[in-house]
Amino acid sequence: MTKTAISAHQLVKWFGEGEARTHAVKAASFEANFGEIFYLVGPSGSGKTTLLSMVSGILKPESGSVTIDETDIWTLSNDELADFRLNRIGFVFQDYHLFPRLTTLENVAIPLILKQRVWDDALQEALKYLEIVGLKDRAHLAPFKLSGGEQQRVAIARAIVSQPDILIFDEPTASLDGDTGKKIMSFINDEILNDHRCVLVVTHDSRIFEYADKIMKMEDGAVTAIEHKNEIK
Ligand SMILES: Nc1ncnc2c1ncn2[C@@H]1O[C@H](COP(=O)(O)OP(=O)(O)OP(=O)(O)O)[C@@H](O)[C@H]1O
Ligand SMILES: [Mg+2]
Repeated sequence: MTKTAISAHQLVKWFGEGEARTHAVKAASFEANFGEIFYLVGPSGSGKTTLLSMVSGILKPESGSVTIDETDIWTLSNDELADFRLNRIGFVFQDYHLFPRLTTLENVAIPLILKQRVWDDALQEALKYLEIVGLKDRAHLAPFKLSGGEQQRVAIARAIVSQPDILIFDEPTASLDGDTGKKIMSFINDEILNDHRCVLVVTHDSRIFEYADKIMKMEDGAVTAIEHKNEIK
């Protein structure tokens, strides 16, 4: 039986005031289920990152609600929301957000450290995930010594290391060549996705559309279509 993982209802966000006001997301609603890879596509500036940020508890909506596995996340206190995100959500930012003063390995270990894992254990576990994304030999380098595509893979390793059940990726393959992008998505599809996980992906990359169960389109802050797997070309 399908179970709803994420339910976004009438989400609204604007930035700025007066003439500078941008209506970034206009009453966007969607549902994504556990066991599903859900893509969000649309032109630059259409509100994809803003919508993801509201769904993952990073950016508070002006109005509307986000329910993740029966928790109405924007009714939680700040501490509760921080805990919820730590335990349930893995996020890959469009611009990676790696910590420059930590090594690649330490960057990946952060979620485990925050979850009170012993330092050595956390590093060992993190190393497994660096190996999965093909970067074990870069473990001790600072992230700014890596290429854009390598940094993206470190961010992916960090998002999956604590095995959260909601994974939210903003352009996870944008800096990767076609083969590496496909390898990462196929890894996510085969090894990460299961009946108890939901993967939400923003992408421009049509090379990885084959991994989508649903594709939602956004234009100018609004949801314009949702297609299911058998309709996706
Ligand atoms: N912090 C902010 N302050 C002001 N305006 C913002 C802010 N963040 C986003 N916007 C505006 O909101 C709109 C939607 O931006 P958003 O980043 O969500 O688009 P996007 O679909 O993710 O684009 P891209 O594909 O380029 O990443 C844009 O017009 C953008 O300029
Ligand atoms: Mg964006």
